[in-house]
Amino acid sequence: MDGRTPYSQLSEKELDDILCTEQAKLDKWSEKNLTLDLTRGKPNQAQLDLSSKMLSIISDRGDCFSESGLDCRNYGILDGLPETKRLFSELLGLPQESILVLGNSSLNVMYDTLVRCMLFGVYGGYEPWSRQGRIKFICPSPGYDRHFTICRTLGIEMIPVKLNSDGPDMDEVYNIACSDPSVKGIWCVPKFSNPEGITYSDEIVEQIAAMKPAAPDFRVFWDNAYAVHELYDEEVHLANIFDYAKENGTEDHIFYFASTSKITFPGSGLAIMAASEKNLEQILPIIATQTIGYDKINQMRHVKFFKDANGVREHMRRQAAILRPKFELVERVFRDKLEGYDIAHWSNPRGGYFISLYVEPGCAKRVYQLARSAGVTLTPAGSTYPYGRDPQDSNLRIAPTFPELEELKPATEILCTCIKLATAEKMLKEKRKH
Ligand SMILES: Cc1ncc(COP(=O)(O)O)c(C=O)c1O
Repeated sequence: MDGRTPYSQLSEKELDDILCTEQAKLDKWSEKNLTLDLTRGKPNQAQLDLSSKMLSIISDRGDCFSESGLDCRNYGILDGLPETKRLFSELLGLPQESILVLGNSSLNVMYDTLVRCMLFGVYGGYEPWSRQGRIKFICPSPGYDRHFTICRTLGIEMIPVKLNSDGPDMDEVYNIACSDPSVKGIWCVPKFSNPEGITYSDEIVEQIAAMKPAAPDFRVFWDNAYAVHELYDEEVHLANIFDYAKENGTEDHIFYFASTSKITFPGSGLAIMAASEKNLEQILPIIATQTIGYDKINQMRHVKFFKDANGVREHMRRQAAILRPKFELVERVFRDKLEGYDIAHWSNPRGGYFISLYVEPGCAKRVYQLARSAGVTLTPAGSTYPYGRDPQDSNLRIAPTFPELEELKPATEILCTCIKLATAEKMLKEKRKH
């Protein structure tokens, strides 16, 4: 921005002045005893209200019969109602027969899937992963902290690889996956990734599908959590990984996940998994041991509410109208307060739930602490990396969806003050060392 000098070109005196000014601002904010939260990647009340009709859409026994005549109030059907599968099939471009409609959280489905691999192995008669010694997963980073927590909990070693603006660094992924049979999988959030908001290019999707990993029992955990979560009218294209997998004969490598948590009600939505026929053949009997089936009344509720994929898309346009101003506000405040100083950069996502913010290396933890002292809670620095270790201590995940605009503005302004303060502190320290 014109008239602004990068901090790296400032004198000790100028940095000292910034320190004093920004500290004074922060002290003023602190006196207000604010409690502002930028951690929660969850829908706000206005978004939830868009789905309120679902609460009464099933009100009678007559609403409970599936098109096959099945009474959804009773036992029966493990893999999902045909009409619910059809809805997801149309929405996500997946063959209906590849879809399982499961519980209320895709995180739960991913956890169960990994545990199943650990206990029973994958299709093909391979040893369970837990009997193969130390196993490893490739973790494009920054990424979704809960993927990393699952690996950590199950004792799976995580190998971070760089996430570029078009997907994971595939040279790194190939080097690791194709040389080491103890590498059993990769986490992918292919569209509006958490927290970067990037979408994999067709080339990257193809390369992932075409990969011939050293482990014959390798699996791609394709977490398409934000498949229909555009913030703007133009649809952001993501290639269908199963199309490329079919061309390469690798359909069995793919485990696909999605949910309606950020479409209808988190915790009261539907999670799905899609996989090849052979994978499903192995998985379904194990699920049958685990449960009598999932909530079919909720599956009916979703079908009656949306009717078809266009119903979901229309609903998501209404959600976007609520979310867009929040993302734009954060980006505007960042531009106004930070641009031109060369002390931070951030993503401008076209969808999803997060803005990824990068501060000067070595400053993210300090920014987190300063913000907390002024009443703004951020997701802890480091959480977006395996083991909570950001090698640069630079990335922060901002979740603008839940707070109202009136809270979001001061929270973002406070954050900018903290960034200036932490950067000035760091640069002064470096200057005084010399
Ligand atoms: C990438 C990603 N996957 C999965 C989830 C969780 O989804 P669910 O609510 O279906 O468990 C989230 C939620 O933040 C997410 O960001």
